[in-house]
Amino acid sequence: MKSYLASLDTGIAARVAQWKTQPGPMLIYPAMKQLTLDLAATSFLGAGIGPEVDEITRSFVDMVAAAVAVIRRPLPGTQMARGVKGRKRIVAYFSEQIPIRREKGGEDLFSQLCQATHEDGALLSTQDIIDHMSFLMMAAHDTLTSSLTSFIGALAAHPEWQAKLRDEVLALGLAPGEPTTFDNLEAMPLTEMAFKEAMRLKPPVPSIPRRAIRDFTFKGFAMPAGTMVGVNPLFTHHMPEIWPDPDTFDPMRFTDEAQRNRHRFAWVPFGGGAHMCLGLHFAYMQAKCFARHFLQNLSVSQQAGYQPEWQMWPIPKPRDGLRVTVKAV
Ligand code: HEM
Repeated sequence: MKSYLASLDTGIAARVAQWKTQPGPMLIYPAMKQLTLDLAATSFLGAGIGPEVDEITRSFVDMVAAAVAVIRRPLPGTQMARGVKGRKRIVAYFSEQIPIRREKGGEDLFSQLCQATHEDGALLSTQDIIDHMSFLMMAAHDTLTSSLTSFIGALAAHPEWQAKLRDEVLALGLAPGEPTTFDNLEAMPLTEMAFKEAMRLKPPVPSIPRRAIRDFTFKGFAMPAGTMVGVNPLFTHHMPEIWPDPDTFDPMRFTDEAQRNRHRFAWVPFGGGAHMCLGLHFAYMQAKCFARHFLQNLSVSQQAGYQPEWQMWPIPKPRDGLRVTVKAV
């Protein structure tokens, strides 16, 4: 995690510095998508992936989009055709890189998977490595793009909270170029509460598909084994009996006191049980590191009365890209 924090910190600091040179209107969603993709590529593939980086990340984007495309055949001109082409490119890139990484090693996840062995000592197959990497890149970047966009949207709509979080960041006492440490992240409880509240309002995975493995009854309905069941965080996060005034942004819902008697599955953006998100600490680390650099350098605002429309499925995103204005602070 330490080496990931260092690479996230460098990547985020550079991108925020670039945003700072272009104050004015900005579309947050596409900017965030580019940032999270670049961060996922450098964290998981390693910093030295060279000039292919744009092409590889583009291939991932096409693959992810194809996973939820309506037309499921790779007909010419469709998203599915672009996804299949993207996957071919990724398979070719990884197949070429695996022997190199086995030879040379490295801290990044790709190099680690290339060195990893099964219990019997056998190395993971090329296919295993490709599947793990593809899943990880998808799991990590779309969810963070969505949650960081809704987080910034909430801060633009609630300047009072933006000011509180900026005070928390400034209280860390970090010079502009100074690296963020784990201790710094620990000292950002309000930021964490605001990020949690953004994910309550717009859970990045609004529905989690499951299949019943045995017969059960829910609220009087008999569900036979094999039934497809959708666990729905978007619904749960807006239940007024758990979340009074559910559509209001209020990070104070996440104080220790407020959380004490809440059901443990009332807030489930990362799922729960055996398959709960493996990357949740990584997600908090990236979100807080981003908040540190963004709030230390920029302020964000929106036009009076602006109410962006969000498409909530399969992963929440603002239809217009989320129009805000950024200024240097
Ligand atoms: C805000 C960011 C994120 C959200 C909201 C999120 C949400 C989720 C959800 C809802 C699941 C499914 C849980 C279930 O089936 O019960 C999941 C699984 C998973 N996530 Fe995340 N995720 C995020 C970021 C990440 C990151 C950054 C990584 C990798 C570094 C990651 C890696 C995984 C993996 C490997 C699984 C599969 C776990 C399993 O099946 O055992 N996620 N995530």
